[in-house]
Amino acid sequence: MVLRVVQWATGGVGVAAIKGVLEHPDLELAGCWVHSPDKAGKDVGEIIGTDALGVTATNSVDDILALDADAVIYAPLLPNPDEVAALLRSGKNVVTPLGWFYPGEKDAPLRAAALEGNATLHGTGIAPGGISEKFPLLLSVMTTGVTFVRAEEFSDLRTYNAPDVLRYVMGFGDTPEKALSGPMQKLLDGGFIQAVKMVVDKVGFNADPKIRTSQEIAVATAPIDSPMGAIQPGQVAGRRFHWEALVGDEVVVRVTVNWLMGQENLDPAWTFGPAGERYEMEVRGNPDFTVTVKGFQPESVEAGLKSNPGIVATAAHCVNSVPAVCAAEPGIATYFDLPLFSGKSAPALRSA
Ligand SMILES: NC(=O)c1ccc[n+]([C@@H]2O[C@H](COP(=O)([O-])OP(=O)(O)OC[C@H]3O[C@@H](n4cnc5c(N)ncnc54)[C@H](OP(=O)(O)O)[C@@H]3O)[C@@H](O)[C@H]2O)c1
Repeated sequence: MVLRVVQWATGGVGVAAIKGVLEHPDLELAGCWVHSPDKAGKDVGEIIGTDALGVTATNSVDDILALDADAVIYAPLLPNPDEVAALLRSGKNVVTPLGWFYPGEKDAPLRAAALEGNATLHGTGIAPGGISEKFPLLLSVMTTGVTFVRAEEFSDLRTYNAPDVLRYVMGFGDTPEKALSGPMQKLLDGGFIQAVKMVVDKVGFNADPKIRTSQEIAVATAPIDSPMGAIQPGQVAGRRFHWEALVGDEVVVRVTVNWLMGQENLDPAWTFGPAGERYEMEVRGNPDFTVTVKGFQPESVEAGLKSNPGIVATAAHCVNSVPAVCAAEPGIATYFDLPLFSGKSAPALRSA
């Protein structure tokens, strides 16, 4: 049975998710919600740069709620829990990289909405999501007596072609004072604290329930070109955030992101080090090991601006989750509520 999927928003993640749905043997595109008025009424193929797909984009929430569909891949700029609740109540499963990776008590209303609609909500992505919790936890089965788990991203954000996310969500281009007191820490906390808590709970650390957060800033010392325009001297051009779980004074889980607008003209003079851009996952126990993932960052700024592999990977994780989420018990499903699943072969290499 082919599952009917709606794409909610057609930014970087949304466009990649539509392409992923079109390639997935068990999914078909049933609808598409767009925020931009100029995209509404267009064939989705025109929006993603392919032949016509016979699916028209709409900016009407009611049209989407009324649509016969199995799942929604929800990827707008910022999460709107009321919107997600309405989608769930309308009987649509929701897969999203915007939150609900490891929900807590405050997400009870969404759980209720999911139960009411006999639907399931699942949060997933690259980080938060894959690299920050799912994959370190999967890898941790290869060691015993775990003492420390770390996930860390080292990315050049000049390749992230989402100016609104960079400016309004990530706080680049602000003064350091504004950035430090701005909404960024809180916005990120939502997802990354859940990632750390999932690792704490699943590995079984007796950690302080309060996750320690901290951040550092680097400013431009000369104009730096970026997808949101030039970042001027004195403006924020590098951000580091840490989320740590502690047992007593000992850090047992740490997630860190190093987001730099290149490696030049920064104060402090941050770099990615000789290993370059990458994701790292480290588990210490018996034995200790570190896994480095290359390929989720683009080869060059120009390549990244066309298509950013980390964004495509985020969309892929959402797309590939859809069949398992549609088959899951109603409510909110974390990685531990879903079976293992894989990516799917390219259409030309597919078995009958
Ligand atoms: N967990 C993870 O690993 C992960 C990874 C990457 C991104 N994300 C998150 O996923 C979301 C999408 O990222 P992206 O890279 O696709 O961003 P993006 O390229 O900026 O796209 C966001 C889209 O949201 C819509 N939009 C813009 N303003 C809006 C508003 N005021 N209200 C509602 N929708 C609005 C637009 O859709 P239309 O163009 O269709 O009008 C826009 O294209 C962001 O929240 C980002 O933080 C998570």
